[in-house]
Amino acid sequence: MRATIGGRTVGYDAIGNGEPLLFLHGFPLHRRMWAPQLAALSPRAHCIAPDIRGFGESTPEPPFTMDQYADDAIALLDTLGVSDPVVVCGLSMGGYIAFALWRRHSTRVRALILADTRATADTPEGRRNRAALIETARSQGSAAIARLHGPTLLSERTLERNPETLDVVRAMIAAQSSDAIIGASEAMLERPDSTPTLGTISVPTLVVVGANDGVTPPPVAETMQRAIPGSRLERLPLAGHLSNLERPAAFNGVVAEFLSSLS
Ligand code: MLT
Repeated sequence: MRATIGGRTVGYDAIGNGEPLLFLHGFPLHRRMWAPQLAALSPRAHCIAPDIRGFGESTPEPPFTMDQYADDAIALLDTLGVSDPVVVCGLSMGGYIAFALWRRHSTRVRALILADTRATADTPEGRRNRAALIETARSQGSAAIARLHGPTLLSERTLERNPETLDVVRAMIAAQSSDAIIGASEAMLERPDSTPTLGTISVPTLVVVGANDGVTPPPVAETMQRAIPGSRLERLPLAGHLSNLERPAAFNGVVAEFLSSLS
């Protein structure tokens, strides 16, 4: 589906009934990465999955910042008439956006699911890697990012046993505009350290991490979870960074259990 908000096109899926559940995708993917969750959870939740500004079907128009992405998500909820607080489920970059959403719009947040993400800002090495990725996107486009970056998001086991998952991920990345990839990379480079935010989180929070996540490994998730009052951590065996795509049934199971614990 598409909406026009502030003159820009926003691609989104919205399906199901029940508790509103907002899915924020990772980089450099789009809303379809949540297809297994929408299929499994829509019988019990109103699942809303936007394309972050620039990705998928959403117009690649600056500014690109975590704050803007968070405001965009709220603008979509407003357009859809969703005024009740939502459960926000963000994976990796989606988690960075979830932190901004909490800081800026906490009254709209019923609970948080932080999957395969980190609170800290980029390290010097992370900044160098990001600058290299921006250069590749500029000079070679999204197909090169799909080829080089795609496999780093998945566990060895997924690459060996479910190579079609890599095909799906690469197709999503290759379909992106370079502007979206560069804009989001610069936004992530500039994002603040969200560590001070963790202690302010006062809604139920579930942290999820793939046991074989090489991008935001389990110790990162453990440190983050310990700093969020009353939060829980679920490790998904055999999953890498895209735990929702690599172990969809396990991911859906822990999310469904978390939703039940809210009511
Ligand atoms: C993601 O999956 O969204 C990325 O790994 C986030 C990042 O590059 O920091």
